Amino acid sequence: MTATDHDAAVPPASRTIRTFHPRRGRMSGRQTDALDRLWPTYGLDVPDGPVDLAELFGRRAPVVLEIGSGMGDSTATMAAADPDRDYLAVEVHTPGIANLLDLVDRGGLRNVRVALGDALDLVRGLPEGVLDAVHIFFPDPWPKARHHKRRIIQPAHVALLRSRLAPGGTLHCATDWAEYAEAMRQTLDADPELVDAYGGFAPRPAHRPVTKFERRAITAGRPVADLIYRRG
Ligand SMILES: C[S@@+](CC[C@H](N)C(=O)[O-])C[C@H]1O[C@@H](n2cnc3c(N)ncnc32)[C@H](O)[C@@H]1O
Repeated sequence: MTATDHDAAVPPASRTIRTFHPRRGRMSGRQTDALDRLWPTYGLDVPDGPVDLAELFGRRAPVVLEIGSGMGDSTATMAAADPDRDYLAVEVHTPGIANLLDLVDRGGLRNVRVALGDALDLVRGLPEGVLDAVHIFFPDPWPKARHHKRRIIQPAHVALLRSRLAPGGTLHCATDWAEYAEAMRQTLDADPELVDAYGGFAPRPAHRPVTKFERRAITAGRPVADLIYRRG
């Protein structure tokens, strides 16, 4: 994919209800350049079929999947601090993917790959039990009741994500939307194989970088909740 055909790469309407707002965005010159230069090395379109993580990263290491990586700041910072694990970021917003590619380049990161497309399709293509962690930071809250069906954290999606975690692997979510935080907790508590690592909301982990969404929440006086569950 190049910057000129990126619009064509936005995924077709998913078979299921989408968890994201379709949106276009302009890319800076730097992002356009990063996409053109780095996509062939670090990027992949979410495929219809299986994904081989060892082939993708060129090694066998524990893999962290970050769903909805936005502009990629969390992925890049966490991957830089954690070189023994591989980070696969998945996002539908092309400028965010391009921004992350730029961060990967500037940081000289070798343990990051970026996937463009629907995370749920990507996860379906993974074998069971292959992930060390799944990160979902500030997912779209879909606040209206009629839109709750679009939330990424709902029982069927959680069952899918959990099935791809290795035993002991973690699902880490963060949100500044109080009602969603409570709904997440109920959904995660109800999953038969997930164990709440902290017996309630988790203390804010220092390794989760502060992004725009958390800064906005702090400014608006909205507390941020972290939820960290382990596959038992
Ligand atoms: C509110 S933003 C948060 C971005 C980032 N995690 C952060 O904390 O800055 C949520 C992101 O999730 C992405 N997203 C939502 N559903 C997705 C899906 N099914 N697959 C890939 N990305 C998705 C959206 O495009 C959006 O960029």
